[in-house]
Amino acid sequence: MSRTVYVNGEFLPEENAKISVFDRGFLFADAVYEVCPVLGGGIADADAHLARLARSLKELQFPDHYSASEYLPLLKTLVRNNKLEEGLIYIQVTRGTQDRDFNFPQNTDPSVVMFTQAKNVVDNPQVKTGISVVTVPDIRWQRCDIKTVGLLPACLAKAEATRQGANDAWMHDNDGNITEGSSNNAYIITGEGKLVTRHLSNAILHGITRVSVLKLVEQANLVLEERPFSIAEAENAAEAFSSSASSFVMPVTTINGNRISDGKPGSNTLKLRELCINAAIQSAATTQATTPGRVAKAHSA
Ligand code: PDD
Repeated sequence: MSRTVYVNGEFLPEENAKISVFDRGFLFADAVYEVCPVLGGGIADADAHLARLARSLKELQFPDHYSASEYLPLLKTLVRNNKLEEGLIYIQVTRGTQDRDFNFPQNTDPSVVMFTQAKNVVDNPQVKTGISVVTVPDIRWQRCDIKTVGLLPACLAKAEATRQGANDAWMHDNDGNITEGSSNNAYIITGEGKLVTRHLSNAILHGITRVSVLKLVEQANLVLEERPFSIAEAENAAEAFSSSASSFVMPVTTINGNRISDGKPGSNTLKLRELCINAAIQSAATTQATTPGRVAKAHSA
């Protein structure tokens, strides 16, 4: 079934949605994006995603375009038109269309594209077993805090994981410390109940789900340590997981072929997942675009 997508002011059937070959997103990856979870027909953490979008645009000196208050009704219309109960909304803003030139164009409006993806983000079968990750060198640029569409290194990392028979890749810096996952933030839990995740810097994306996870640390009876952790520390951790808008908290049960504890999703990880999903459901209920949906409450697997 054809989706309705948003392109520069219009809601169109996906087959009629067109972007110019001269769009700078296409030619230079001169574009930023956001991915927001949709639960029960509402958009979770919409404000935080729109604030990060505004920050990415500012860091890259984009001209002013829609404000958060202009985005929200558009996002809701998109969810409603596509009758989306559960899944994701993708937003991409490019610097616009102009004859190919490395210099930023003058007097060009940014292009805005938005579409939905239906997906079981809560009832994800991978949660039962957890996922396997392999570590790969982080070959990205020095502004990973900006959510740009320059995702080729992430695609290469994921392809390498697939080649090795794993589900995902965790990237590491030159010192052998984990930065983050190919499209998620990375965490370990130590045997002493410490939740360890890399501190915020330009080396990682400042995940919206990460903010939500860190708020729940006390409730999960854990102690937070924001610092780099090494590949060896990860391989020997009591529990490990990743977080993102598309997977919330995803247990990691194998790292570089080493089983994490008994190789099953950790109990603290599952608790954090449950708390995190319930927080997202509450947040989504405040930006309901459709009639109240049937999203299930999260339960530990
Ligand atoms: N990725 N780190 C990277 C490199 C990411 O691409 C993402 C999100 C995250 C987690 O951020 P958040 O919690 O705000 O989703 C961390 C999205 C889901 C994607 O590219 O599809």
